[in-house]
Amino acid sequence: MEGASHPVLFPITELIYFHQVGGPMDQRIWNDVEDYFTCNIVKQETSFSNALRRQNEEGLPPINVPPTQRKLLYLLAKMINARKILEIGALGGYSTLWLAKALPEGGKITTLEINAKRAGIIRDNILSAGLADKVEIILGPAKETLLEMAERGASIFDMIFIDADKENNPEYFDLALRLSGPGTVIVIDNVVRNGKIIEDGDGDPSVMGIRMSIEIAKKDERIESTVIQTVSGKGYDGFMVVRVNN
Ligand SMILES: C[S@@+](CC[C@H](N)C(=O)[O-])C[C@H]1O[C@@H](n2cnc3c(N)ncnc32)[C@H](O)[C@@H]1O
Repeated sequence: MEGASHPVLFPITELIYFHQVGGPMDQRIWNDVEDYFTCNIVKQETSFSNALRRQNEEGLPPINVPPTQRKLLYLLAKMINARKILEIGALGGYSTLWLAKALPEGGKITTLEINAKRAGIIRDNILSAGLADKVEIILGPAKETLLEMAERGASIFDMIFIDADKENNPEYFDLALRLSGPGTVIVIDNVVRNGKIIEDGDGDPSVMGIRMSIEIAKKDERIESTVIQTVSGKGYDGFMVVRVNN
């Protein structure tokens, strides 16, 4: 993808029309706009593209963070000079690679993944990208791993990315706060879920888990938070950004 040129698929006036009148704004234009920005400004190393290809070939579901947002994770990590990052939910290690790339010499990302096959793919992808010295993979249920880390008093993380099973988000958020210090940035992915977050009904455990996380963000005075709604090749969603106060 690096250096690839990409045609402007829609004249800007047409984009404004879509946005202003709430017209036929659909997945097609979200995909094309995501591709446009991905090709022009996201850019990525060949080893990262290979990692994604491998992940697809192995039949992993395409549920990784979209390109523009993974670049944002990378930029956030750089902006706060993160040296220690925790990731909950790694899939094939694609977001892990981006976060690892943001780390300075001696920095480390610890990534938690429950699925052994996926952990193997992550390991291979990290090795191929030459980032093995920056990544620690912990296989197992994240709740147990996080609890063990919090109870042993593991040193705090500068940045925490929560992107695993959404029904456990309240526990992950709670434990992430125990592993945070002043200035820690926590990003929680997929909090909008095509608008389901505000729809009536309590049948979907993922939505319930996210609502409970929003309640934590609402009440906990140690933190400040916001949510950014997104559209992309992955549809309509959003992520919460939290900062732990000084
Ligand atoms: C959305 S994917 C992560 C995507 C990845 N962050 C990326 O953007 O490339 C969620 C991952 O969380 C893992 N997961 C689900 N439940 C988990 C649990 N209880 N503990 C640890 N990992 C879990 C899944 O196996 C899956 O690989």
